[in-house]
Amino acid sequence: PTVRLEDYRPSDHLIDRVELDVRLDPHDTRVTARLAIRPNPAGRAGAALVLDGDDLRLVALALDGEPLAPAAFRVAPSALTLPEPPQRPFTLTIETRLDPTANTKLMGLYRSNGVYCTQCEADGFRRITYFLDRPDVLSVYTTRIEAEAAQAPVLLGNGNIIESGRIEGTDRHFSIWHDPHPKPAYLFALVGGRLDRMTAPFTTMEGRAVELAVYVEPGKAERAAYALDAVARSMKWDEEVFGRAYDLDVFNVVAVSDFNMGAMENKGLNIFNDKYVLASPETATDADYAAIEAIIAHEYFHNWSGNRITCRDWFQLCLKEGLTVFRDQEFSSDMRSRDVHRIGEVRTLRARQFPEDAGPLAHPVRPKLYAEINNFYTATVYEKGAEIVRMLRTLIGERAFRAGMDRYFSENDGTAATVEHFLKAFEAETGRDLSDFAEWYERPGTPRVAVSGHYDEARKTYRLDFRQTRPGAGADAPPVVIPVRLGLIGAEGPLDGATSPQLEDGVFVLDAPEASLTFENVPAAPVPSLFRGFSAPVRVDMAMDDADRLTLLRHDTDGFNRWEAAQRVAARLMTGALRGEATEAGADAFAAALGAFLDDRALSDPAFAALVLALPSESDLADEIGAEIDPDAIFSARRALRARLGTALSARLHALRDALAEPAGAPFSPDAASAGRRALRNAALDLIAAADPIQGAALAGAQVASATNMTDRLAGLSTLALLPGEPREAALAAFAERYAHEPLVLDKWFAIQAMIPEDGTVERVRGLQAHPAFAMTNPNRVRSLVGSFALANPTQFNRADGAGFALATETVLALDRTNPQVAARLMTAFGSWRRLEPQRRAAAESALRRILATPGLSRDVADIAGRSLGNP
Ligand code: ARG
Ligand code: ZN
Repeated sequence: PTVRLEDYRPSDHLIDRVELDVRLDPHDTRVTARLAIRPNPAGRAGAALVLDGDDLRLVALALDGEPLAPAAFRVAPSALTLPEPPQRPFTLTIETRLDPTANTKLMGLYRSNGVYCTQCEADGFRRITYFLDRPDVLSVYTTRIEAEAAQAPVLLGNGNIIESGRIEGTDRHFSIWHDPHPKPAYLFALVGGRLDRMTAPFTTMEGRAVELAVYVEPGKAERAAYALDAVARSMKWDEEVFGRAYDLDVFNVVAVSDFNMGAMENKGLNIFNDKYVLASPETATDADYAAIEAIIAHEYFHNWSGNRITCRDWFQLCLKEGLTVFRDQEFSSDMRSRDVHRIGEVRTLRARQFPEDAGPLAHPVRPKLYAEINNFYTATVYEKGAEIVRMLRTLIGERAFRAGMDRYFSENDGTAATVEHFLKAFEAETGRDLSDFAEWYERPGTPRVAVSGHYDEARKTYRLDFRQTRPGAGADAPPVVIPVRLGLIGAEGPLDGATSPQLEDGVFVLDAPEASLTFENVPAAPVPSLFRGFSAPVRVDMAMDDADRLTLLRHDTDGFNRWEAAQRVAARLMTGALRGEATEAGADAFAAALGAFLDDRALSDPAFAALVLALPSESDLADEIGAEIDPDAIFSARRALRARLGTALSARLHALRDALAEPAGAPFSPDAASAGRRALRNAALDLIAAADPIQGAALAGAQVASATNMTDRLAGLSTLALLPGEPREAALAAFAERYAHEPLVLDKWFAIQAMIPEDGTVERVRGLQAHPAFAMTNPNRVRSLVGSFALANPTQFNRADGAGFALATETVLALDRTNPQVAARLMTAFGSWRRLEPQRRAAAESALRRILATPGLSRDVADIAGRSLGNP
């Protein structure tokens, strides 16, 4: 059942008000829905009313209070149809029964660790009651939640609480919630359970007093402190930067341990995977703290970009997700170091979105068709979607961007909008035609930009010739509008005197297949610094020798490009080695430049230095090579360069470790500066161990034993994990014992082992699947063990004998019976199979064929397997 964008038409009916009465019970929850329905003036007059359902059991049905005669409706688990509904407003009362405990798909109403919770995006509400489960049907909800008081002392709904109390003569209680803001069903949520909480007051810029609360598993309230503070900072930031204030009296965040995704922006009641809420120095790494801050912000920012203005249909998913990712990236950049954060964003984009865009699962940022929408919550929709918003800001400038955003929010508030509505706001604000720019949403594939530079000694001019191509976008694809932020660097520093009338605020707009840009007053042949800040999500081909790139590392004013220069040199050395070139001299020159860089800047910006020392990953290299990939060869080339750099820089790395050591007894702080010092210290450890495994094992082992926070303990353990032997096994065993009762830490323990790049890991992972702490019912656990193996262990997942593919295949097939969404997610590990060398490619293909041939496959997994094999 393929859904197509071109087939969109408005709903024939609207539902203005929803009154839900949910009587929670572990196995027999009763849901009564009173729906105020009317024909949609924009729909077809006299059309049948077809309400969506999924696995539903109807118990009673009444129209305007009167039971409906069996002849007046048809019902199935997947739909409730009134062939001839009244041609006037009417009330439909629907009673359904469900079993939350048996709901292993974790969509709709389910129980996680005894806590009742919901997940309705994209189409889970239809697993609770029959409904027009589409995002362009907006309703005002009133929800009465009832449960046994001892089992669920906390009852939460969307909006504000208006009443609560005991039910006389029973052990049950209730609360009633009203959400005045019309919303689509995917934003509905409720929670019931035994939970502790941490609260804080907040007053909005409009003077509204809001109570912020984060609810967590009993006994863990202190671990909610960081998330709670992140909520307050997000609210404040959205007021200051986007002029957006919160609009209810309470804002609740609930952490649950079984969750398919990261988190969900339900109106006034965000529900989170507890991994993105709970934090303490003993259990969370600096990366965990940063992710919590970012995801808390992301879900909060959805209140405006997603909830107040939602999507007309699911093809517009990027309208809320790309925009909200952009907003959370800006927030994190303001909270932390902007350059460091930008590098992190680009690393994620290149690691996840570029391969997706180059493989069989590629799709436009606004897809044109889908079989299963839950498979489109992708890096392309989210991350590339955010890059489009960023490019728009680069093109029109910050002030026009803010004005356009204001206009978008005010003109579309309370509606279900499209990408066109979004762009229209900026067109109206700037008077600029953005129809060419809109092409970014339409076709898949990462554009390539080839650049060549030509210096004219006599005229003192420098010309850059650009040529764009769009692999994967189709032969008829028009050019895209590419903002190129750039500048020129000379041997001694930036060439500020060089100018070009074609540049506006340092940006050149490449909107044709080919174009040139000329600078004047260029005293000597310069080094161009192109795509500063990664100003467009493209691949750049420019021949440049290492010496020029190292000039950029030294002198560029753009932090992103300084980092990028070092990455390019490292990547060229490794791909050169793979082709059998002699790279020793180049590696030594690189080491010397890195040494000078460390001497200059390591201690003034440790977080940035740590990123410079982290070489391009194995998957970066695979993506760059693009075909006939041999993951073992890539691994060896990377290991060799790390070892060489580690040897050359050894004295400096040891000195850095000493200089950056925390004084004993210093209190832990997760702030960006402290995290940056830990990151550099641990990057140094990684290179030391690559060069000298014996010394590395000793240092790493000591660090694991003496660490006072999870960042350092885990970094030590990760270094040790690369060094086979008894110390590694002993450290892993001690870690497991120490954290036996900390599920989120055990996830890290599973993940580290799944990522060991050695023969034997497949067998180790199989053994861990039988570990008493492993559970297929917990998505975090599955992702930590099998997800880490399939998505973050390139040599072992891609084993030439197919053993890695077999392990992933068996897990996908087993999981598909209970949780298809998470099974489908795991399958994306096969997304680059066509780029492998022939033997591995054949093994991957047969694994995919085996999956697709399995009877009873879910639509989720069948869709990914089918598209991976090249079916449309
Ligand atoms: N809207 C959520 C977020 O980005 C993601 C929900 C995805 N859920 C799903 N079933 N695909 O924050
Ligand atoms: Zn989102």
